[in-house]
Amino acid sequence: MAAGKPSAVDERRAQFARYKQDVKARGKSFYPFAMFEDTVMSLVVVTVIVALAAVWKWTAWAPHHLGTHQGLLGPEYTAPADPGTTNFVPRPDWYFYFLFYLLRIFKWPETVFLGTVGVPTIALILLIALPFYDVRRERRLSRRPVAVVGLVLTILSMAILTWKGATASEALASEVIADVPNWISAEKLPPAAVPGAKLFAVAGCTACHTYLGTGSSNLGAPDLTTIGTRNLGIAFQIRHLQCPSCVNPGSPMPKFASLGTTRLHELAVFLEASKGKK
Ligand code: HEC
Repeated sequence: MAAGKPSAVDERRAQFARYKQDVKARGKSFYPFAMFEDTVMSLVVVTVIVALAAVWKWTAWAPHHLGTHQGLLGPEYTAPADPGTTNFVPRPDWYFYFLFYLLRIFKWPETVFLGTVGVPTIALILLIALPFYDVRRERRLSRRPVAVVGLVLTILSMAILTWKGATASEALASEVIADVPNWISAEKLPPAAVPGAKLFAVAGCTACHTYLGTGSSNLGAPDLTTIGTRNLGIAFQIRHLQCPSCVNPGSPMPKFASLGTTRLHELAVFLEASKGKK
């Protein structure tokens, strides 16, 4: 046996032995001591939540302007949900804006999986595995350049994504329809194409397609400003709208057959009349 400096492993073993001894001498067992404390604390938390709910419910008697009642902890209910709404813009809570924007970066259908599951999962695995791949005991930030740069980059990218997500504009149907007169004058659309243009503005097409700068481009959907120059024909347009994946295999565009043939015809006339800026 070399009687020199103890190795790092010896040192850790000694530390572990000291820890075990300490637990034996001064520690308390999990059952029943720690479990009792946990139980009491959980009960306290649940009781507080139930009490707050009771105060919210039973103090709500003053009339509120949305037709419900106002209580100590706010209105009993806010506006009733409207399942028929077409201008609701779904947006996440602010702390999900970074994920929300990440998804907008991955516009191509094959990469949506990366944006929703891939990147966040890889980041989480890296974080969980940190104690296994960074085993050094060094704590000084100045001696951990990789960790510090990683931290700064993570905070920076999340801050930027959150800000981009917060300021990203999602056009309401009512805002899109305000652009229809511009489309008519810029593309010199004939009167027959106007009903289709209005339909295009409110049917949700601009959630994936852009048209003269309106709408947002998603899932790899093409800009439709000049779709008419391809002369696909009314019949093709209707068939495509009824079942996009039947015409263009693998198309992620939803079926619009439920709009009915009259409205699909109007849409097709509008698409075929869209030959770009004149
Ligand atoms: C969820 C996204 C999405 C929505 C909503 C959507 N599309 Fe599409 N659209 C796509 C994608 C992706 C493509 C490319 C694949 C294809 O051609 O089917 C496409 C292609 C098209 C094409 C070109 C077809 C071709 O053969 O080149 C037209 C025209 C079109 N869409 C019209 C519409 C109209 C009109 C609406 C609204 C009624 C609409 N789209 C709604 C995603 C969408």
